[in-house]
Amino acid sequence: MREISSDFGRVVVGTQSELFGEALRLTLAAQAAARAGRFLWALTGGSTPAAFYKWCVETRALPAELVNGTHFTVSDERHVLLSSPDSNFGNAERQLLAPLGVPTDRRLPWMVAWPVAEAAEAYRKTMLILAGPGRAYDLCFLGMGDDCHTASLFPQTPLLKDDGGLLFGGQEVPGKGWRLTITPSGLRACGTILVMALGAGKADALHRVHRGPLDVENVPSQLLKTCASNVVWLVDEPAAARL
Ligand code: 6PG
Repeated sequence: MREISSDFGRVVVGTQSELFGEALRLTLAAQAAARAGRFLWALTGGSTPAAFYKWCVETRALPAELVNGTHFTVSDERHVLLSSPDSNFGNAERQLLAPLGVPTDRRLPWMVAWPVAEAAEAYRKTMLILAGPGRAYDLCFLGMGDDCHTASLFPQTPLLKDDGGLLFGGQEVPGKGWRLTITPSGLRACGTILVMALGAGKADALHRVHRGPLDVENVPSQLLKTCASNVVWLVDEPAAARL
């Protein structure tokens, strides 16, 4: 593995299995740094986490203390039932949490059965109890879309421009429906953030974030500059081609 310097966090470049191993190593370090007895880990949506879940299940690399001693949630969610193939938490549950036998009281989905505003409010209350005031996740996994969105913070969306200091919220994204998501303030209140971006399809977006002009409203992942010391990017060689 090699590292590339960036204002947006530490960039680690390697093969998929090296990066997944590094993700696990950083996860265990984040758990060790969390308050005793409480570790809040947000998974995320997209294709890369799905490959990571498969790796975790196949290798059985997650120690029992991590599987049993973690509260699992997701960084953002579509406003659909968990049974939908579009549900980030539903996919995490089907592909990782259930196969690993994570106890059901450690699984914390967004409250998607409720209207968006109430769902976001209920989730904020739950996280306030678990994480404490002004704190979000101990560890947040993120992906990045071709348009440089991360979590459900898409270009030009309201929560990206102004989240009112709230750590979690809901917003309608044109063409994509309602989304529940960690906010920019929420990301700044996380312990560790791991962004995974694999494959040649991510090369242009990574270039825009790390090497392009600062323009957070159109390149949302650049908001991570404000918490760069907590951010690690895990990218493979094809994705790093333009860095
Ligand atoms: C989602 C995500 C989103 C995702 C990126 C990357 O729910 O879709 O939270 O931010 O991580 O779109 O997705 P891919 O890994 O599929 O490219």
